[in-house]
Amino acid sequence: MSKTINDERFTEILFTQDQIEKRIIELSTWVDEMYTTSKDLILVGLLKGSIPFLAQLIKSIKTEHTLDFMTVSSYRGEVENTGNIKIIMDLVIDIKDKDVLIVEDIIDSGKSLKKIYENLILRGPKSLRIITLLDKPVNRKTDIQADISGFIVPDKFLVGFGLDVKEKMRNVPFIAVFNKDYLEKL
Ligand code: IMP
Ligand code: MG
Repeated sequence: MSKTINDERFTEILFTQDQIEKRIIELSTWVDEMYTTSKDLILVGLLKGSIPFLAQLIKSIKTEHTLDFMTVSSYRGEVENTGNIKIIMDLVIDIKDKDVLIVEDIIDSGKSLKKIYENLILRGPKSLRIITLLDKPVNRKTDIQADISGFIVPDKFLVGFGLDVKEKMRNVPFIAVFNKDYLEKL
């Protein structure tokens, strides 16, 4: 169910703040159920897009855990090639024998996550899973899959709740389809 909005930056709102926050509570229940017996859970937030999702998620997670972060360079705007994706900020924590949950804003082609997944698995975690707020399966170019996602989304350029256009609009508290006519004003 999409809503129209009187804001020239967006063409439609896909998910309101209320809908997102309710869904994130359900996702936190999934985390608690998945890791009831876990001794060492580490949530790995992928910067920067995962920040609003991660912040909201951990408010409802009851399982003890630690946080760590990674930044990978994006191939966006370049030739789409897995080789272009580089880790530019690595984890601080050693994840060997730990339960690791990667927290992502959106999986699109899956190329960034594939690179990260393959890198982290080499470090010998006890388990490695993926939680993503949004999943855009239409554009998938790899075999990477989330263990759980908040919402399945269409192949449109989205902004808000961490998702950016040219590093802007991550603060928008809902998820909207970006109006490309607005690009020149950014
Ligand atoms: P992927 O490697 O194609 O799966 O996507 C990598 C990253 O691109 C995601 O983690 C997002 O940060 C970004 N991205 C993908 N789709 C969108 C979108 O619709 N809006 C904003 N950023 C996006
Ligand atoms: Mg991202």
